[in-house]
Amino acid sequence: MYPTQTTMPIGTRTSELPRQRELNESTVAAQQDAALSPRFYTTDFAAMDKLDVTPVRAMWDELVAEFRRDPNKDHFKRNAEFDADFSGMDPKLRHQFIEFLVSSVTAEFSGCILYAEIKKRVKNPDIRELFGVMSRDEGRHAGFINHTLKDFNVAVDLSFLTKAKKYTYFQPKFIYYATYLSENIGYARYITIFRHLQKHPEHQFHPIFKWFENWCQDEFRHGEAFAMLMRANPDILKGRNKLWIRFFLLAVFATMYVRDHVRHEFYEALGFDVDDYDQRVIQLTSTITAQVFPVSLPVENPMFWTRMKQIANNTASLTKARESGGIGGRLRAAGLLASNAYQLIRLYTMRVTQNAYRADPRMVPVW
Ligand SMILES: [Fe+2]
Ligand SMILES: [Fe+2]
Repeated sequence: MYPTQTTMPIGTRTSELPRQRELNESTVAAQQDAALSPRFYTTDFAAMDKLDVTPVRAMWDELVAEFRRDPNKDHFKRNAEFDADFSGMDPKLRHQFIEFLVSSVTAEFSGCILYAEIKKRVKNPDIRELFGVMSRDEGRHAGFINHTLKDFNVAVDLSFLTKAKKYTYFQPKFIYYATYLSENIGYARYITIFRHLQKHPEHQFHPIFKWFENWCQDEFRHGEAFAMLMRANPDILKGRNKLWIRFFLLAVFATMYVRDHVRHEFYEALGFDVDDYDQRVIQLTSTITAQVFPVSLPVENPMFWTRMKQIANNTASLTKARESGGIGGRLRAAGLLASNAYQLIRLYTMRVTQNAYRADPRMVPVW
């Protein structure tokens, strides 16, 4: 994702942080700020306080009313299926499933604390209410995943993470692009897994996947909220900002593609071909984001996928080159990084689709 300055939350002293050796592997993994792992964000709260949703008031009130109804209030309750014995799970699958859960809980919790912080730091009643209910949802999601991690004795220490993880600063418009995309990609990922397992229940190796259908409706609503915020401030969808939107689309898609290909056995255990899974998720996300983004990447063009695949292959070879070490390994690694940079530039400069302006950008989650 877009690299920028990082800050610690105000009031955190390093003396307050628990010692590293007391942490389990999941908390340590969740704390990592590697290029592919989910990050925590902070932003310009004063600018967010000035947001005016008057231009989209009717749509906004409808959406907020839906948030108030809280349709998933009783959804995140576990049943007896979670008490089953999972100790017979293949160790490699167990490892990748836990990695998937750790990365998901980090992403959910990242939303929870960013939205809670926005609610705390602004006075604007519209913004306070919206971010309050979205934080509520993300907290539920994170708690539900962490409960499953606890079953495997590897729950992430979320309060530690709040203090210890680095916070990446994004100005508000970048927060909108990035979170709008990540909410919709979250929706697309969860619904694609859910629909696939409906057809192939033999691959349902854990009950948590059964919760994904209602769960992803929350993510869809969050995406709609960011769509409204951007539509209320149309300048951030125009002019040079279109170049930033293209950048964020590519950064988010490429990160997901590479991350999933590193963890391909997990998707294979679910009965997916990882290329096909990522292609479907990215194409669905692209369809949804055309609701407000003025441009879409050419995700129907086979060349787009050839280049993405090249980046994923380079990344796999990169790990091997680095492990082999020595001058040869370093040279190979440099070559692979250069190839990735080249492929990203080629992807970024591919012809984009210009999306027509929609007077009413609201969508229905019909997938
Ligand atoms: Fe969520
Ligand atoms: Fe969300």
